[in-house]
Amino acid sequence: MGIQYYEKNRVFKLDTPKSTYMIGIVDEENFIGHIYYGKTIIDTDMRYLMRSEEIVPSKNNRDRVSFMDSLPMEFSTHGIGDFRESCLSVKTKSGHSACSLSYVSHEIYKGKPLLQDLPATFGDEKDCTTLELTCEDKSLQLRIVLVYTVFEALDVIARSVRVVNVSKEAIYLTKVLSACLDMDNKDFDMLTLYGLWSKERMINRKRITDGKQMISSLRGVSSHQEQPFMAILEPDANEDQGEVFGLNLVYSGNFMAQAEITQFNMLRTAIGINSVDFSWKLETGESFTAPEVVLVYSSEGIGGMTRTYHDLYRNHLIRGEYKDKKRPILINNWEATYFDFDTDKLLSIAEEASKVGIEMLVIDDGWFGTRNDDNCALGDWVVNENKIKGGLKHLTEEVNKLGMKLGIWFEPEMISPDSDLYRAHPDYAIQIAGRTGALARNQLVLDISRKEVRDAIYCSLSKILTDANIEYVKWDMNRALTDLGSICLAEDRQGELYHRYVLGLYELQERLTHDFPHILLENCSSGGGRFDPGMLYYSPQIWCSDDTDAIERLRIQEGTALIYPLSSMGSHIADCPSHSNGRSTPFSTRGYVALAGTFGYELDITKIPKEDRDMIPEQVAMYHKYNDLVRNGNYYRIASYHDNHEYDCYGVVSKDGKEALITYIQVSARPNYRTRRVYLKGLLKDTIYRIEETGEELSGGALMYAGINIANMWGDYLGKLIHIVAI
Ligand code: GLA
Repeated sequence: MGIQYYEKNRVFKLDTPKSTYMIGIVDEENFIGHIYYGKTIIDTDMRYLMRSEEIVPSKNNRDRVSFMDSLPMEFSTHGIGDFRESCLSVKTKSGHSACSLSYVSHEIYKGKPLLQDLPATFGDEKDCTTLELTCEDKSLQLRIVLVYTVFEALDVIARSVRVVNVSKEAIYLTKVLSACLDMDNKDFDMLTLYGLWSKERMINRKRITDGKQMISSLRGVSSHQEQPFMAILEPDANEDQGEVFGLNLVYSGNFMAQAEITQFNMLRTAIGINSVDFSWKLETGESFTAPEVVLVYSSEGIGGMTRTYHDLYRNHLIRGEYKDKKRPILINNWEATYFDFDTDKLLSIAEEASKVGIEMLVIDDGWFGTRNDDNCALGDWVVNENKIKGGLKHLTEEVNKLGMKLGIWFEPEMISPDSDLYRAHPDYAIQIAGRTGALARNQLVLDISRKEVRDAIYCSLSKILTDANIEYVKWDMNRALTDLGSICLAEDRQGELYHRYVLGLYELQERLTHDFPHILLENCSSGGGRFDPGMLYYSPQIWCSDDTDAIERLRIQEGTALIYPLSSMGSHIADCPSHSNGRSTPFSTRGYVALAGTFGYELDITKIPKEDRDMIPEQVAMYHKYNDLVRNGNYYRIASYHDNHEYDCYGVVSKDGKEALITYIQVSARPNYRTRRVYLKGLLKDTIYRIEETGEELSGGALMYAGINIANMWGDYLGKLIHIVAI
């Protein structure tokens, strides 16, 4: 395993436990071609796959364009004959855009470098080996370093790119994607996650056909609408078998991911920062780093890909004190009170909650400035003592006396036109002079590309966090970016604003997590509008969706868990009829569904029906019993109700295979039906397990290949847990 360079053939071979990735240096001109990515192979010379002998450019410049347009490239560049999607494009002072790469040198070392100012997966010398491939465009004097890190124990290759200007004049980067991946077409499918507010991350699979198929965001956030993720699948790949190649960008702003079938029936996949409205001025000696893309290879279908992403993100992306810890069970007052609360109301909720085992009260939107609705006061992070009578310190102390922790909501990146902050600093908002900026939820976005703006915001946040014993922060972000303009950027740098915004955000969260390491941070963006690996680097959990209806959540959480670990999915039991869609579901079912995420409550516990309240201690016990398994185990999709329209089923199996928890939700009851056969997954086939509820003893093989019968329940939206333990 690891990375080898075969000098004679000029081939790099990158091996993970079950995959091989090969790069070749081609021709006297040292082009960098892509040879292979797929199941492990022992060969070291597979250069024939590049077909580079078919046209030899150094001998025959006559057909150079054909060569450029057909060679499988490691990192494609614009303007030199490769008319497929390029990864890199520039504008020189004289206005030219052509750029080409040739190999200069390389370095292979143990470990994994940090990415400058960007979140990225991490690993030490035992976990990882890294290849840095330095190439250049001689005439531009632009150096491009392609960085590949192989994880020893996981089928993961993390790629990133650094562009360094070694010339004597500035150059503009107009496009820097993080990776492309060229393969021969095998009638691949693509898997992406689309959505909208309250319906994030719906799984979408379709055949890749001729031409370009792209997903993207231009909203300044990764977005509800698309995920910075694409998987390429063999047409017969399913949940359990077949080859799957996942690409996930560790980035929280504008992105694009594209699959393209080319004229010669090749597939080029490309992913990175969206080049629309992007440009970056690189002065002499400066470098630009493109975000990391995490490639996952699975020959065990989509499920195999999922479990690799989960392991990688749990162990090599998520950081901080809560990385491997059970999270406190919280109760959030948003759906309980919206803006209508005060200290007494919050304490009455906390008091009831403390009696049933809930561990933390989270005060959501509305505790600051004059914010009694969503029209004002964002940016005024001072406690509204008309509502929080006695102040936040008093409230915290009272909550702490109940044996509970206190958490609080902020929306730090925003500014309301009706706020003291805006009245004092209207220039803090992102804006174009002379143009009326579009409002969304009556708010504007702060220009956090500016250090003084970041400092001002951070100062007011940290004051709140220092003055009272706050142990959790929900960091929200409730609108897309529009009318992009920064008064601090020169004309030729305005195209940097989207990316500088994201860098500003990362810097702020790095500062917060560094200064307040004990605080549990949960990111949020109108629900799940910025649920991406970039944000997971700072917060171990992200609010999954504003849709808290348990049935809708099944699909949202299934899509989210396609890539992200269950431990990262913010999930609450809310009141019914659901504030999202008016549906009523049993309290128990809401509990089972929330159990697949971080688990908490979002309701007025003083008002819900007594029988629901009485069920909470049981749910709390259920959480404590199963959360270690849910957080750390291997996740298996067994059945999706959006496919079968009747039931949903998934399981989590402990890493040693000895314990499993199956969640079964009967979404729609069937008449004249007694039992449904369900086939479990991920167990040890020759181990005998006991089903806790029935006492039955069966082998893993029986449970998986023969299945179990689950009795039809009387009514819709009913659920059950099946807990099995090896004996
Ligand atoms: C967003 C969040 C909600 C809630 C509100 C408060 O919509 O997703 O959970 O915090 O903001 O305004």
